[in-house]
Amino acid sequence: MNDTNLENCHYAAEVSDLEDREPYPVEIVGEEIALVSMDEDIFAINNICTHEFACLSDGFIEGDRIVCPLHLAEYEIKTGAAVEDPAEIDLQTYTVVVDEGKIYIRL
Ligand code: FES
Repeated sequence: MNDTNLENCHYAAEVSDLEDREPYPVEIVGEEIALVSMDEDIFAINNICTHEFACLSDGFIEGDRIVCPLHLAEYEIKTGAAVEDPAEIDLQTYTVVVDEGKIYIRL
């Protein structure tokens, strides 16, 4: 469940910009972030693969995982956990706040 406290939050996108299980890239104060709408909730993960350098939003989603387009590492979208080689380092996740149809990220 997303919370509603907008303290330290930065505008990211409109809820209507997102399609279910389609990663949506945004840059917020220098952080590359991928938003994912999934299971009626919105998640935010760092958009850069921890293996080498690839934008995960250029990859694809399988079930609850995002797959890197370069060497096919997989991460759990809800937790950022690296679950498939060659990635060994988890992705940073971010708190998402939704308010009146707008998505904010707390940094
Ligand atoms: S850069 Fe993502 S798996 Fe290698």
